[in-house]
Amino acid sequence: MRTPMVAGNWKLNGSRQSAVALAGEVAATEVAGVDVVVCPVSLHLGDVSQALKGSSVLLGAQNACAEEQGAFTGEVSSTMLAEFGCQYVIIGHSERRSLFGDSNESCAARHKAVVAAGLTPIFCVGETLDDREAGNTMAVVESQLQAAFDACGDNAFASAVIAYEPVWAIGTGKTATPEQAQEVHAELRQFIAARDQQTASAVRILYGGSVNPGNAAELIGKPDIDGGLIGGAALKSADFLAICQAAAAQA
Ligand code: 13P
Repeated sequence: MRTPMVAGNWKLNGSRQSAVALAGEVAATEVAGVDVVVCPVSLHLGDVSQALKGSSVLLGAQNACAEEQGAFTGEVSSTMLAEFGCQYVIIGHSERRSLFGDSNESCAARHKAVVAAGLTPIFCVGETLDDREAGNTMAVVESQLQAAFDACGDNAFASAVIAYEPVWAIGTGKTATPEQAQEVHAELRQFIAARDQQTASAVRILYGGSVNPGNAAELIGKPDIDGGLIGGAALKSADFLAICQAAAAQA
């Protein structure tokens, strides 16, 4: 049985003070049976880590460099993130891919570095609306996974989480239907099974894209949807916790 996971991607939001307050609110409610993760901006990790102390809420970062150290101005390495108590790192979010030029290859290299540092990547895949309308959804998301297989071998996802986030559903209020999402999740699992059957059964595949307290239960209720990667709704503790509770009800 896969333990559901709900991860909040706080993106570029908040101040030191508001991040600590939000983390404290999330940490104050124990949601049994769900791995709850919050991913603030890197600069807030230390403060948020302190705010989560004594709770079961886990800490994640939003990106990591493929390199450990050296002349890579502006980057942060996985080992540095681990020092702040991070256990998870979001890799290949569509905003990184579309706005900051993270290619399939560089996402795969980052994924490899995160695993090498003993952290768990939350590896994001997703198609644009054009891709979907052209019937290319699976080709796109599989090529994103394939890059990680090429860089890391057949067990690339043995200690990873995958997030399916259709680009057209992110921040738009437009959610994939549970059936649309389930279809992609099941195919992603099959794609992994062709390389590593054991990982395919164990790997958690989260759905992301306009998840809210009203639609979370139906999405996470699908057999291959193991939780959510939450953007906007993760910035309000009541909404985020309601999504966590919806996931707990499916556990
Ligand atoms: P929204 O939940 O705001 O659509 O964002 C989803 C997302 O990008 C999470 O990584």
